[in-house]
Amino acid sequence: MAEEEAILGFLQNNDEIPHSGQFAVEHELDHEEVKNVIKSLQAFRYIEAKLIKREFYDLTDEGKKYAAEGSPEFHFFSAVPEEGTISMDDLKRMLDPWVFNVGSKQAPKKKWVAMGQQVSRTVEHVEDKVKEMLLQIQQGLELDEESLKSLKTRRLIILTEKWTGYSEVKKGPNYAPKRRSFATDLTRENLQNWEELEFKEYNFNAKGQPVDAGHLHPLLKVRKQFKDIFCQMGFEEMPTNNFVESSFWNFDALFQPQQHPARDSHDTFFLKAPLTTRELPEDYVARVKQVHESGGYGSRGYNYEWKREEANKNLLRTHTTAVSSRMLYALAKGPFTPKKYFSIDRVFRNEAVDRTHLAEFHQIEGLICDRGLTLGDLIGVLQEFFSRLGMSKLRFKPAYNPYTEPSMEIFSYHDKIGWLEIGNSGMFRPEMLQPMGLPEDVRVIAWGLSLERPTMILYETENIRELFGHKVNLATIKQSRICRIGIEAA
Ligand code: PHE
Repeated sequence: MAEEEAILGFLQNNDEIPHSGQFAVEHELDHEEVKNVIKSLQAFRYIEAKLIKREFYDLTDEGKKYAAEGSPEFHFFSAVPEEGTISMDDLKRMLDPWVFNVGSKQAPKKKWVAMGQQVSRTVEHVEDKVKEMLLQIQQGLELDEESLKSLKTRRLIILTEKWTGYSEVKKGPNYAPKRRSFATDLTRENLQNWEELEFKEYNFNAKGQPVDAGHLHPLLKVRKQFKDIFCQMGFEEMPTNNFVESSFWNFDALFQPQQHPARDSHDTFFLKAPLTTRELPEDYVARVKQVHESGGYGSRGYNYEWKREEANKNLLRTHTTAVSSRMLYALAKGPFTPKKYFSIDRVFRNEAVDRTHLAEFHQIEGLICDRGLTLGDLIGVLQEFFSRLGMSKLRFKPAYNPYTEPSMEIFSYHDKIGWLEIGNSGMFRPEMLQPMGLPEDVRVIAWGLSLERPTMILYETENIRELFGHKVNLATIKQSRICRIGIEAA
């Protein structure tokens, strides 16, 4: 760098650089660069320097008038006779209005005159300092702080430019004609030549380089926690690897009537290709048709004409309860064994997208299938499950699902938010379980919730689109902390 060489070189033969601006001009260097180099050399104590600041002012119109004609207080003083007095009225008549108005305030303030009905001089002679100062500024001379302040408050001058530079640039304790370069790395060459080299000191306070590695999305972190809790409670994971499902497994098997509003294309994404499912278990389909149309197993059914074409329609599953129905049907085929199942996977709903809704989300689903289970078991399991998540204050509200009876919405108390709906639950209806062929005394308790809701609460995300979809900010994902839900409860 030319600037650095010039400065260090100059100081080798000279005591000081009196003024950085002048130095830059004389050496044909850029003053900004010279200043940067001085700052850096000063930090390493190669040199010492004093920062200087200068401000440039212009005269306002009023300032120009005073500079040309003299200040109003000077004219006011001059109008007062050397001996004796003069009345204010006479002064007013004699003087220009601007001289009278300003002068009658400034002159007594400076203790040049005594004021009353009659005005008299209190000093013999005055100097028009204001005029002098204004002329100095016009000539580009520097004034002291106080003078500048007095002129600024009277709005006689205005700041036009600020200038900084250095003065008294001298050798510092570490002065050398050339900046030493330090060895920074422990390379083979550096170690072999260590005697000639000067190593840079370690900075143990430096932050390390950010680790360049893959990062888990918050939803995956929270999913892992839920998965662990299910596994600790002895649940098995259900295979949820097909997003496309038939209406039969998604709705009909769950005793959801074919006119149910959820089955409307406004709420469900139906598939165009393949439009329909290829295969369904025919004997089971016949029993489902029967329970919808005329009931059985102690039920009156819905009393409508059940249509096979409706059941065949393919869709993107609207809940993972579709998987539960497949699993329970498979379970009913063999000799009965109690089961605890869970899944966490994607579901799709044809919803208007807003800050808390997306057309797809992840559903967490749990179910227990055993002989003689009761609503008390469901409440107990939910308490156990949610307290492991750190949510032990729960409330239940009666609700309606076509496939559960009784059904309960689950509310949890959140310190910052209050009571919050976190899930839905219930006991699967006999109209759903019996046609599958499960023994009559087998009961299934089940619940479902979204993965996004707890994730948004845990990571304080206000807009779901920041969490999921094309607006996700990768930096946020990288910086998201680890998820340790349920720690307080443990
Ligand atoms: N399928 C329900 C939903 O989509 C959740 C649920 C699962 C409710 C199991 C009751 C029993 O909200």
